[in-house]
Amino acid sequence: MTYVVTENCQKCRFTDCVSVCPVDCFHVGEDMLYIDPDECIDCGACEPECPVSAIYEDTELPDEMERWVQINEDKCVDLPIITQQIDPLPTAEGRRAELMDSKDLKA
Ligand code: SF4
Ligand code: F3S
Repeated sequence: MTYVVTENCQKCRFTDCVSVCPVDCFHVGEDMLYIDPDECIDCGACEPECPVSAIYEDTELPDEMERWVQINEDKCVDLPIITQQIDPLPTAEGRRAELMDSKDLKA
C-alpha cells in the first residue's frame, strides 16, 4: 500500500505534506508533487496536512482517481526528491479558492 498525490495538488504544491513525512518519498514536479510507492511507509501523516485534500491512501481512492497510482509511480523515477517545505506556487491560493467553491475538497 501507499499514499498517492492527486489532481488537487496541481497549481498548488503547498508542500505541507513534505514537512511531516518521516522518509524521503516525495518527488517534486513543475506543478505538483508525487509519492514514491517504494519509499512510502504508509504512516498517513501527510494526508491531513494537505490544505487542498490532494492525498489519498491508494485503497481509498475514488474510482475516477485510480490513474494517479501509476502516475505517482512513473513520475518518481525521474523527478528529484524534495525533503523540505518550499513556497507554494503563485497560483496556489487562487486554485484553493476555486476548489473550495467547487466543493471539490474532502470534508
Ligand atoms: Fe510520507 Fe507517511 Fe505520507 Fe507515505 S504516508 S508519503 S511515508 S507522510
Ligand atoms: Fe500538494 Fe497538498 Fe502536498 S497541495 S504539495 S499534496 S500539501
